[in-house]
Amino acid sequence: MPHKPVLLAEVLSHLKLSPGMIVVDGTVGGGGHSAEMLKQVMPGGRLIGLDQDPAAIHRCKTRLEGVPGVVLIHKNFSDLGAVLQELNVLSVDAVLLDVGFSSDQLEDEARGFSFERDGPLDMRMNPDEKLTARDYVNELAEQELANLLWKYGNERYSRRIAKAICNVRIKKNIATTAELASIVRDAVPGARSAARGHRPVWARNHPATKTFQALRIVVNQELKNLELGVRTGWAALKPGGRMAVISFHSLEDRIVKHEFLRWKQEGVGNIITRKPVCAGDDECRDNPRSRSAKLRVMEKHL
Ligand SMILES: C[S@@+](CC[C@H](N)C(=O)[O-])C[C@H]1O[C@@H](n2cnc3c(N)ncnc32)[C@H](O)[C@@H]1O
Repeated sequence: MPHKPVLLAEVLSHLKLSPGMIVVDGTVGGGGHSAEMLKQVMPGGRLIGLDQDPAAIHRCKTRLEGVPGVVLIHKNFSDLGAVLQELNVLSVDAVLLDVGFSSDQLEDEARGFSFERDGPLDMRMNPDEKLTARDYVNELAEQELANLLWKYGNERYSRRIAKAICNVRIKKNIATTAELASIVRDAVPGARSAARGHRPVWARNHPATKTFQALRIVVNQELKNLELGVRTGWAALKPGGRMAVISFHSLEDRIVKHEFLRWKQEGVGNIITRKPVCAGDDECRDNPRSRSAKLRVMEKHL
């Protein structure tokens, strides 16, 4: 199923776009937010869309083909400053970052993001990057692996899982998502035997959820890039311009919250969303992915 943009109405109402504006979508993904933002800045406006996944850029080029004012570039949003310089754009009116991965990436087993679809243990959003999840899983020392699972997945069984991974990889390289998911399932107490309705609260998700999250964050250096992206996006904004960031877990949200508070304390902007905006019941029902989405918006002082 193609990616459904989350919190679309909320993003549009908070960005306050109007014809003639220049907007940046740092994470074009399936192009859902981009297409709607573009409508609001036309006529006369521009949309500069980035994605570190060339497949997303390709998909959006097809979707937005021929629309005037659109530039789509295969780049990490942490490189936004250089991209704008190259385009001779001095400043922009709005920036959106809708971070994490898209349904298109998750559902393509060849990308290796999902424990529910068997594929190579890859998880790179940008296939030009060198290290895959397979490299981390097979090469990190047991202690480093456990620390990674704890730090980026908050996985309470990080040590057991790391040990189980090391026991398997002595015999053979762990190469697929199904192999890893099965190792984790066997390592987590009760995960295999507990019947669905009788699982404890912590086990309601697939037992490999946190392990996969942690690996994805590390493979794509998501937290470092988010921090850089939020800072570069803010630097690119005109006075009065707005930045909107949608995050999907507490490690990401903490970075956004921290940066926004710092700018507020420095007196350079206003936080528009006192509390993060979350999806309503209808959207959560319609698009389960939106359940964990948090939108924060900040405006630069005039
Ligand atoms: C949640 S999806 C975005 C969905 C999009 N807003 C839509 O409406 O379809 C996240 C996208 O951001 C991209 N992405 C994640 N981190 C990125 C980064 N640091 N730089 C550029 N793109 C990134 C992913 O490749 C993915 O395509």
